[in-house]
Amino acid sequence: MKEIEIVSKAKIYGYEELSENDRELVEQAKKATQSSYAPYSNFHVGAAARLADGTIVTGSNQENSAFPSGTCAERTALFYANARYPEQCVKELAVAAFNKGKFTAVPTPPCGACRQVILGVEERYGRPVRILLYGEDGTYVMDSVKALLPLQFSGENMNG
Ligand code: THU
Repeated sequence: MKEIEIVSKAKIYGYEELSENDRELVEQAKKATQSSYAPYSNFHVGAAARLADGTIVTGSNQENSAFPSGTCAERTALFYANARYPEQCVKELAVAAFNKGKFTAVPTPPCGACRQVILGVEERYGRPVRILLYGEDGTYVMDSVKALLPLQFSGENMNG
């Protein structure tokens, strides 16, 4: 038997420590929570993707009474970005959530399906997507979704 250790790293920034660009993206994600349709969970998530040319595309979670038919904020933003601006790679993605009258203290991590979709975006454009997960008590920043998805399945697994 062998054991391997899988290490991921995230940086945690106070809001004031974020660059102006990062604050702008986080603010867009926070704003996007307002367009969330979440009558079932009442958990309002917003995501903002910055593309190579600087365009910011936002999305929010859209729920449905048949629960699996709804979708998360991250996928709404990313699929819209890829459909509308297919030639622009996604450089960064910020996520924020509004719950019980306030933004969450702890960052909202993307669900497993969203992590896989973000990985797909990294594969599609051949470059990492920087991730910013906003929380009132600190924003987690990662250089790639791979930090959130150890032992990820990608096209490489089918070629090797
Ligand atoms: N949700 C997101 O939109 N993004 C996340 O990162 C986590 C969860 C949504 C899905 C559902 O509408 C609600 O939050 C509660 O799970």
